[in-house]
Amino acid sequence: MLRFLLSLVFAGGLASAASAQPKDRPLTKIAFGSCADQNKPCPIWKTIADAKPELLLLLGDTMYADIEDGKLKAASPEKIVRSYAELAKLEDWKALRAQTPMLGTWDDHDYGHNDAGGEWEHKVAAQKAFHDFFETPADSPRRTQKGVYHADIFGPEGKRVQVILLDGRYFRSLLKRADKPLPGTRIVPYIPITDDGATMLGDEQWKWLEAELKKPAEVRLICSGIQVVNDDHPFEKWGNLPKERRKLLDLIKSTGANGVVLLSGDRHLGEISLDSKSVGYPLFDITASGFNQASANYRDPEANKYRVSSLPYGNHFGMVTIDWAADPVVSLQLRHENGEIAIQSKVKLSQLRAKPGEKEPAKPAVGLPEGVLAPAEALKKKEGDDVTVQFAVEAGRLAGKRILLNSEKDFKSEKNFTVVVNEKAWTGKLDKATFDTFKGKTIRVKGKLSTFQEKLQIQVNDEKDIEIVEAKK
Ligand SMILES: [Fe+2]
Repeated sequence: MLRFLLSLVFAGGLASAASAQPKDRPLTKIAFGSCADQNKPCPIWKTIADAKPELLLLLGDTMYADIEDGKLKAASPEKIVRSYAELAKLEDWKALRAQTPMLGTWDDHDYGHNDAGGEWEHKVAAQKAFHDFFETPADSPRRTQKGVYHADIFGPEGKRVQVILLDGRYFRSLLKRADKPLPGTRIVPYIPITDDGATMLGDEQWKWLEAELKKPAEVRLICSGIQVVNDDHPFEKWGNLPKERRKLLDLIKSTGANGVVLLSGDRHLGEISLDSKSVGYPLFDITASGFNQASANYRDPEANKYRVSSLPYGNHFGMVTIDWAADPVVSLQLRHENGEIAIQSKVKLSQLRAKPGEKEPAKPAVGLPEGVLAPAEALKKKEGDDVTVQFAVEAGRLAGKRILLNSEKDFKSEKNFTVVVNEKAWTGKLDKATFDTFKGKTIRVKGKLSTFQEKLQIQVNDEKDIEIVEAKK
């Protein structure tokens, strides 16, 4: 009985134990989003409830404490508490909360002050109000730590989803603005801060994040109030602290954390961004913003060289669905206020994996006749297979009564393929001059794959099996 009750306990706040997601069941439907003014209608709370997600991730600006008479104004601690209470009494919110496990972080408006960071004078009071609202247990260490960052893992081994909620406010260094607006606008852009010591997460949170990323999980949803991948617009973004942005991307790579998808909010628009280079596999950042704060009318998308699709109008929320079939598929969706899917990117979980030791892609096997393999393809075959392989001889040597011809300059490279020409294969004398006839040339070799020191190679025993097909350009 105790174990049953414990399985219902949702680590970190939740609506009630009865609505908690059992930790041993794989998650298949996770809703997320940001930006809800509690004093405006928000029909999307009901839409999310109707979609029946197993978990709702609130990425910040869950309420607006810093709006008074329609204008931005830094909130008092009382105003923060009152704003949470205004949200909590909404009927649609209450119904959603009663049936849906929730985890949250904050952004600036629920933190209490527009674009505020570590300098915010009421951050301690804001944190208490946050935990009271999310019903974080009174004895939880989360109440005494500095900042609201938090992580949890759901699902059995092989189907684990790790949720990591970052706090990009409590420790963040003061941002800097340019000294004049962008031409033709009133927007005074933030400018990158590259000072040593300028931070987004602070030392403690960075250490915690590294430890979290080293925990085993198949899918990792990293939640950030502001966008990570989009580095182009003039507003708040991780790119305002470029060294911290790089640190995050490098940490994902260096910890070997596979299956990462970034979830973000803040921008009052929806979009999917994709960084295909930084972490060794496609890194998506899906922005859902807002629940009731997006522009009703089409607006031009903001600058974003990483954008793969956009939803520049209309209230919406995000949904991550996971089909845990043999080759699991993760679907990243933005859904309209009526619940319809507006845009989505589907990716196989097997693609969200860095390939160990493969720092650069294998040379493409373009232009080869049918049945002729590039070294990378030949190395995927097995001992005893009959193959024809073609490559430019990058290196090699005369070794006793044999000639070694290598496809890579470094024969120790995992990508190297070696052809061994034995003396008995050669009618003439096998010497340095013979080797020189192959050096730098493209050769095509036919033979049976054998192994030498656990590496596949071809031993040529008949000179008819090796030919020079073209001079190296
Ligand atoms: Fe925000």
